[in-house]
Amino acid sequence: MSDMNFKVSEVYGQAPLKEPQRQLYFIEKCREFVSQIKPEGKPLMLVNTFGCQMNAHDSEKLKGMLLEMGYGEAKSEEEADFIIYNTCCVRENAENKVYGNLGQLKHLKKENSRLKIALCGCMMQQETVIETIKNKYNYVDLVFGTHNLYKLPELLYTAFNSKEPVYEIKTEHGEIVENLPSVRNFEYTASVNIMYGCDNFCSYCIVPYVRGRERSRKPEDILNEIKELVNDGVKEVCLLGQNVNSYGKGLEEKITFAELLRMVNEIPRLERIRFMTSHPKDLSDELIFAMRDCEKVCSHIHLPFQAGNDEILKKMNRHYTKEQYIALTEKLKKYVPGVGITTDIMVGFPGEYDVDDTVDIIKRVRFSGAFTFIYSKRVGTPAAKMPNMPDEKLVKKNFNRVLEVLNPIIFEINSEKVGKTYKVLAEGISGHDKNLLIGRLEDNTLIHFKGNIENIGKIINVKVTDSKTFYLLGEQEDL
Ligand code: 5AD
Ligand code: SF4
Repeated sequence: MSDMNFKVSEVYGQAPLKEPQRQLYFIEKCREFVSQIKPEGKPLMLVNTFGCQMNAHDSEKLKGMLLEMGYGEAKSEEEADFIIYNTCCVRENAENKVYGNLGQLKHLKKENSRLKIALCGCMMQQETVIETIKNKYNYVDLVFGTHNLYKLPELLYTAFNSKEPVYEIKTEHGEIVENLPSVRNFEYTASVNIMYGCDNFCSYCIVPYVRGRERSRKPEDILNEIKELVNDGVKEVCLLGQNVNSYGKGLEEKITFAELLRMVNEIPRLERIRFMTSHPKDLSDELIFAMRDCEKVCSHIHLPFQAGNDEILKKMNRHYTKEQYIALTEKLKKYVPGVGITTDIMVGFPGEYDVDDTVDIIKRVRFSGAFTFIYSKRVGTPAAKMPNMPDEKLVKKNFNRVLEVLNPIIFEINSEKVGKTYKVLAEGISGHDKNLLIGRLEDNTLIHFKGNIENIGKIINVKVTDSKTFYLLGEQEDL
């Protein structure tokens, strides 16, 4: 990370054109501003994240850049001098949450004249949202999207120097910028982007429009980042992408996701590897065999199926049938013993009046966990124009039926673990009970357990003593 030591004086006052040097230059420039914001001490910033793991990881990068500029971290919005919302637009209620919170910031701005407010991320890539912010929330100082997230230092510097709000929304992605400052939310586990964007265009999904085309990071950049994380004490990495199974497309060097996994598996002192999300249509035998062969790759896969009915799947543009999906999960179970399969399920897509096939998949696959969603119409996606929206009451009934089948299965799978011993990475102290530690089994099941605090950061044997629907209770062996 020698770039990080870059000094403004070295460019004689001229902003470099190359990245990341350009943003490192603006970090230095912002530092001058930030140091003058609050005579009584460090000004404080708060990054509020909405949405998925990808956003959570982007927020680590935003935070890292802000800390480098000289901000401290605020514990609440009330004490912050800079608030940034990293937004999500995958469903309407995610957007409503952002608007709701944003509305409440207006009075904070009146109370604290130093307060600057920024919005970024997926929601900002939509024209209608930008119009709404300009009209209804004109107290926002800085707005940018997903393609220029790395430009926070330059944009904030512009905002510091401007009386008008600064808006920069790019419709096309540029280069992948490496080596900017970042922080980690957790000490022993870390997320690593392996690719950005999505080319699948599932007909309900806004992601391909707001995150742009699929592009993969070079394997050497990924491997170097992981090696640095390991040097910094990280034991487990999660490789992130909207569809990791299509990793490598478009890179000069020919490489598949399975090959990348095998390379990551060779990194000394790294102990566990996870990845998400996988698309069933691209889940190759090669990947299943890599999961089987690589001892560090955890026996867990997040494999969204969305809906069970073949006609609905076709209208969703998912490129698989119910039976193909089930066959895939059977192959996984055969080659990766003890594999935990989790999924995403959507209810209420246009034309979906019953969930018989969805329930059938749930019963036959037996998921160890699932995120369940009610379909939300997203303007600009093909599904938004599809007829035959089932009525709300029916959707609620179908949704409840899905939960009634799903939750007892998850509970049963957890109950089968009681009395057995599993390898757990002790990640920290449990938020539920300060006397317990928290960790995950290889198959991703969460466990709260009695354990020795000195073992935090280590993989230890934990005996399961009790099960709840969404987590286990346990005790470290030889305590
Ligand atoms: N409505 C409801 N759920 C959605 N998802 C994506 N788009 C929508 C939508 N329009 C869900 C899918 C996806 C997860 C990340 O979010 O289940 O797998
Ligand atoms: Fe959306 Fe489908 Fe891409 Fe997932 S794979 S991000 S659901 S378009």
